[in-house]
Amino acid sequence: MKILMVCLGNICRSPLAEGIMQHLADKAGLDWQVDSAGTGDWHVGRAPDRRSIAAALNEGIDISKQVCRLFRVGDFDEFDLILVMDKSNLSNVLAFARNSSDRQKVKLLLGDKIVPDPYYDDTQFAPVFKLIEAGCKEIIKQYI
Ligand code: 4NP
Repeated sequence: MKILMVCLGNICRSPLAEGIMQHLADKAGLDWQVDSAGTGDWHVGRAPDRRSIAAALNEGIDISKQVCRLFRVGDFDEFDLILVMDKSNLSNVLAFARNSSDRQKVKLLLGDKIVPDPYYDDTQFAPVFKLIEAGCKEIIKQYI
C-alpha cells in the first residue's frame, strides 16, 4: 500500500507522519511505502523543521533526509490513501480531486479529530508526535 501524508507546510506534521508510519509499517513487516507533501510552497526543497527532526530522533526515528515537496494532482493516481492532518488540509487536497475515486482516498489521519499545527509553539512537537503515532497505529490496525 502507498500512503501520502499531507499538511500545510510539509515541514512539521506530515514529515513526522511519514517517518512514524514508515517506521511502524516496517516494524510490522508490511510492504508499505509512505511519502509526504504540503499544499503551501514556502519550504519546498528544504528539510523538515528542526523541532520535528528532534522530536522524531528522540523516539528513534530519523526524518532529517526528507525533502519538502508540494502536493500534486498526480498523487491521487500514485497513492492508495491520502491522510491529512486537519480540516483545512482536507479542503485544500479535496480542491484538487477530479472525481469520487480521488475524493474517497482522502481522510483525516485521526478519523474525526485533527492534528494541530505546532509551527508557532515549540512545546507542541512532542505531543503532536504522540498524536500522530496513535493515529498511525489505528490506521495499521484498520488496514492489515
Ligand atoms: P505543517 O506546519 O503544516 O505541519 O508543516 C507549518 C509549517 C510552516 C507554515 C505553516 C504550517 N508556514 O506558514 O510557513
